[in-house]
Formats: sequence, C-alpha cells, structure tokens
Amino acid sequence: MQPIVLIHGGAGTIAEELHEAALAGVSAAAEIGRRALQSGADAVTAAVAAVRSMEDEPAFNAGRGACMNADGDIEVDAGIMRSWDRRSGAVGGVRELRDPILLARLVMEQTPHCLLVGQGAEALARRHQLGHFGRAEVETTKARERWLVARSGQGARDNRADTVGAIALDHRGHLCAAGSTGGVLLKIPGRVGDTPIVGAGFYADPDLGACCCTGVGEAILTHMLAYRALTLAAAAPEAASARLRALCAEISAAHAGAAIGLILLRPDGQRVLVHQSDHMSWAVADGEQPVIAGLRRE
Ligand code: GLY
Repeated sequence: MQPIVLIHGGAGTIAEELHEAALAGVSAAAEIGRRALQSGADAVTAAVAAVRSMEDEPAFNAGRGACMNADGDIEVDAGIMRSWDRRSGAVGGVRELRDPILLARLVMEQTPHCLLVGQGAEALARRHQLGHFGRAEVETTKARERWLVARSGQGARDNRADTVGAIALDHRGHLCAAGSTGGVLLKIPGRVGDTPIVGAGFYADPDLGACCCTGVGEAILTHMLAYRALTLAAAAPEAASARLRALCAEISAAHAGAAIGLILLRPDGQRVLVHQSDHMSWAVADGEQPVIAGLRRE
C-alpha cells in the first residue's frame, strides 16, 4: 500500500495575512505524517504527529492559540479513530491543554471508553503525566485580541478557520482519522462541537475509509457528516467529490451559510477534499510525490 496523508487546517474565512502561515502549517503537517509512515510508524502515530504539529501552530484554532469561550477560558476538544478495529477515543471541554490529541489517543488505547469530558479527562491526563496544561501553554496574544474584539461586538468572527484534522493510510492499508479544536469563539462554557463526536466530526472504517470534518459543529453534528460522507462516497466512488460538495452546500444552506468542509480517504487511496466556505487550508502527501497544498475553493 502506498502511504498517504491528508490534512486540513479548518474551513472558514481566513484573513489574507494568515494564508501563508496556514499553507505552511498544513504542508508541514503532511510532511511530518509522511515521514512517520516512511519510518515504519502506523497510521495512528502518523495522524497524531501531524495533528500535534498543527496544535503547536497558532495560525490554527487548536491547542496553542485556540479560541476563547464567553468567559475568556480555553476549552479544547479532540477525537481519533483507527479503522482496523474501529476503536475511537475523544475528549471534550478540557481546559488549557495544548495537546488534546494525545489525550484522545490515550482514551482510545488505554481506557474502555470512547469519550471523556472536563475534569475526568483532565484527571486521566494527570494520572498518566500526559500533556502540557496551563494558560501559558495555550494562550496567544492574538487569540486574546480576537476575543476582546469579538466580546466588544466589533466583529464576532475569528479570522482563522475552524479545527485541524489529519487522515493517514499506512503500508498495511490501515487508516486513522484525527482532529483537534478550540471550538467556536465566544462559545458558552461547556459547549462541545463535532470534533470529539465519532460519526459526526470523524470516522474510520476498514471498508468505508476515513473522514475528518470541519466547520460549524452544530451543523455537522445534526447531519452525522463524517459517517454519512463515507457511506455516500462508498455508494458512488466515481461521483464522490461532486456528491460531497453538494452535501456540504446543502448542510451550509440549512444552517445559515455555515462553513462546512471535509477530507476523506477511501481504503483504495481515493481522496476527496471539499468545502463550502471561503477557505479550507489542506495538504496531501501521496507516496513519494511532493506535498501539494491549497486553500481556496475550486
Ligand atoms: N468544528 C469544530 C466545532 O464546531 O467545535
């Protein structure tokens, strides 16, 4: 099997001055995932490495630089699923954690559960001495400025996009889907979106493939987008891109023009990257070929 890594840096409207950083960030993540696969790592390790690199990059709404909730606190979500045994793990509403994808992986690999939230998730991380917690680990001056502007009512929109995600296909044909987010700027404390919800924000299956979604969580949750996209693509592989583009448009229209996007990889390596938003930064590392990346809608 030719290893492949697909990356997204979130659907939404990205300010012009952040385009370069977003493209550099997704390209670097694709390369990091590919190098992991080339060195013999499995799909889970490759997808986690790719997402971790984007959690550290403040151009994205995840980990360091994640957006703030209505109280000015930072609560993050993350989810991961591997195809071969359909195990998944996720965390929601975790405060001030820079690397929540590591905690989601821990839930998947070392607990009998799929989703832990809030204090329980934080306690698990501490028991395993995992993760970087603290305001200084996650807050950036830019994120605080965006929060102050949004709170004053001068502009509620973040000037980055939503969420980061990665899909890896390894030499054995195993797939992994992983995502991480700060959620929505000014969200009500405790709000959890699609990113840690299996079947909505992400899914991986040996027969269907893997999918990571991005955009307004409430719209994605309502439509169980990740699983639905995979079944649609499996039913008509030759028309997958067109059908999924139409599905994103349909969901967006039903949710007041919400940004919606997804990346999807089928077990045979066929890929789909679509979005109904001004931008979605994305990158692909396919075998030995140079990484390709983009940001605008076709
Ligand atoms: N898509 C991320 C969120 O809505 O929280």
